[in-house]
Amino acid sequence: MTDQGMSPPRSSRFWDRMAPRYSRLPIADEAAYRRKLDITQSYLRPDMDVFEFGCGTGSTALVHAPFVRHIQATDLSQAMLKIAQDKAAAAGVTNVSFSHAAIEDWIPGDTGYDMVLGLSILHLLEDKEAALAKCHRMLKPGGLLVSSTVCLKETMPYFKLIAPLGKALGLMPTLRVFTCDELARNIMAAGFGIEHRWQPTRSKAVFIVARKI
Ligand SMILES: C[S@@+](CC[C@H](N)C(=O)[O-])C[C@H]1O[C@@H](n2cnc3c(N)ncnc32)[C@H](O)[C@@H]1O
Repeated sequence: MTDQGMSPPRSSRFWDRMAPRYSRLPIADEAAYRRKLDITQSYLRPDMDVFEFGCGTGSTALVHAPFVRHIQATDLSQAMLKIAQDKAAAAGVTNVSFSHAAIEDWIPGDTGYDMVLGLSILHLLEDKEAALAKCHRMLKPGGLLVSSTVCLKETMPYFKLIAPLGKALGLMPTLRVFTCDELARNIMAAGFGIEHRWQPTRSKAVFIVARKI
């Protein structure tokens, strides 16, 4: 595992603590997860290089790995990455590299990626607009951003009030509250055209595939 040398720990302590429990949690909605995998895989090609930020315990990267050339998977939490690496080794997957880095600190190389995956992560960032702009810069022309994001403003707007307290007490990570329409506007403002938008129900994460234009 490589380490890009991070600035101070954002929510890393929270996620390090969560990692063992997170890795044992069953997928909340198997059918929706499968559909998102299928939609993503309809875009995958064997010569693709993929970047994932907030990869957690690596489950999705390991599912997509057989369909692409390489996945560079990154996360803020060393504990999450350790579990991800152990899973990759156990599964004999060799085309996924794991690196310890917050998306804010990641320094991309010169060659662009064909796809960026950001799953259950955009609502956890201090500045999702900056992250979206970075994803846009990291992609090749016509490259794809695939995201799945909980839009708390639609179902739990009060989170805006309790999230800062929860974070100060160490009970919650950084949490941002916005609607799915706001997110879609942010994605388009960053220079993407939305190709696919799907939300199983209003309380569930919105899945968006967007292309760099
Ligand atoms: C809710 S989990 C999602 C994990 C995985 N993408 C999934 O769908 O199961 C959020 C993950 O994002 C990571 N994370 C939080 N803030 C981050 C940041 N600023 N940069 C990179 N990763 C971050 C956490 O460590 C955690 O592993």
